[in-house]
Amino acid sequence: MNEEMMTTETRQSANAPASPAAKRYFVKTYGCQMNVYDSQRMADALAADGYSATERPDEADLILLNTCHIREKAAEKVYSEVGRLREIKAQRKAAGRQTTIAVAGCVAQAEGAEIIRRAPLVDLVIGPQTYHRLPAAVNRALSGEKVIETDYAVEDKFDHLPAPKPAATRSRGVTAFLTVQEGCDKFCTFCVVPYTRGAEVSRPVGQILAEANRLAASGVREVTLLGQNVNAWHGEGPDGRAWGLGELLRRLAGIPGLARLRYTTSHPRDMDDGLIAAHRDLPVLMPYLHLPVQAGSDRILKAMNRRHTAEDYIRLVERIRAVRPDIALSGDFIVGFPGETDADFEDTLDLVRKVGYATAYSFKYSPRAGTPGADMADQVPEDVKDKRLQALQDLLDEQQAEFVRHLKGKPVEILIERAGKEPGLVVGRSPWLQPVIVDEKAGGIGDIVTVRITGTGYTLYAEPL
Ligand code: SAH
Ligand code: SF4
Ligand code: F3S
Repeated sequence: MNEEMMTTETRQSANAPASPAAKRYFVKTYGCQMNVYDSQRMADALAADGYSATERPDEADLILLNTCHIREKAAEKVYSEVGRLREIKAQRKAAGRQTTIAVAGCVAQAEGAEIIRRAPLVDLVIGPQTYHRLPAAVNRALSGEKVIETDYAVEDKFDHLPAPKPAATRSRGVTAFLTVQEGCDKFCTFCVVPYTRGAEVSRPVGQILAEANRLAASGVREVTLLGQNVNAWHGEGPDGRAWGLGELLRRLAGIPGLARLRYTTSHPRDMDDGLIAAHRDLPVLMPYLHLPVQAGSDRILKAMNRRHTAEDYIRLVERIRAVRPDIALSGDFIVGFPGETDADFEDTLDLVRKVGYATAYSFKYSPRAGTPGADMADQVPEDVKDKRLQALQDLLDEQQAEFVRHLKGKPVEILIERAGKEPGLVVGRSPWLQPVIVDEKAGGIGDIVTVRITGTGYTLYAEPL
């Protein structure tokens, strides 16, 4: 899962103008796509309880921050944000209006009651496993209780969450996220996810198909399956057997209207033959794979508890490329993990040169309390991390430019997703996930059309064909 991919802050857009008397909520989402999905499901739960969305926190009866704990910077954002809300809450109070401030997501799960101790303005803390209880929790908070809902719920939240109204789905556009797997049992020594999201759980096939069918019926053309470890998904099928992700993708490929499928984030150890075969056989499965490796030194990979070597990863990439030569590879990297020497870092650069990435995300190691990495000796100084990050990003940027350079002049199929910022233009997406800007004559939102690429950079430019 990638935090930066989401530009870290996503605002829920208001669906319809609300009547002045209606209860309103404002939600701000940090972190990965799974949080974006969770925010939508919380929005659906609130809508079923009579709330409507607002993009203005000062108009909101409920302010919901859906937070990320992955790196220290991400986690600290919640406290600065709550600080900014102090004024709003006070002004609303002076006008006789109550404001509930709720913290959801991974910081909520990791820090629980500590959040209210540090930020008494917060009324409600609710974790990723219990957010189906949000409307009830808000009501308790309204009667003055400080509410903490961070247990690992015994009930399945998906059995208790209302389905989104078709209008809500339509307002979210022609692409949608669908969480199929949550949590992680891998315990990489740098990572908080196994602690914030809990043990690995796979949603059953029936539940996923019902949700995918509903999305398709509301006009969604592209579904991205989500999981902290999406390719470890092994949900129970109608036949009582545990299915693999490849099998699930084959089934989803048969849903009328769904023209594109994606999934993220994958772990190299769970890339099984069935999933690789799905890339070979399914034209609707887009040629893009986010497959984080984190580092290129076997010594560091071992210390990270990744349980694969650099060579394993390179072989795996070769197998995938053998069946889908045009696949765009994406990755995550951590520089400056404890004990990383210059030579270890060179191994990372080496791996990047061998693999060739279309895009990638790289981070400085951030020690997280409670994870084994935080207590390891030989923490790497910040200035060394800075230098390594810069060198790695320079190389990745070059590769990214190289990946798109050959597209110039070529026809490319895009899914048109939304209107452009400038009138007369629309924004689509290539099979490899780059945004593509083209004249609206190319087609309407939701159409899949072939355009010719005229300019390449982070964004591609194209002309209708
Ligand atoms: N489940 C995914 C990753 C989830 S976190 C996987 O296994 O690949 C997203 C990315 O954040 C990770 O891939 C990693 O590169 C980065 N990350 C996680 N913990 C980090 C930490 N403590 N410091 C810096 N980056 C971290
Ligand atoms: Fe974190 Fe590792 Fe699990 Fe990914 S596989 S979520 S990096 S513990
Ligand atoms: Fe952040 Fe939680 Fe996602 S820690 S990256 S929001 S799983």
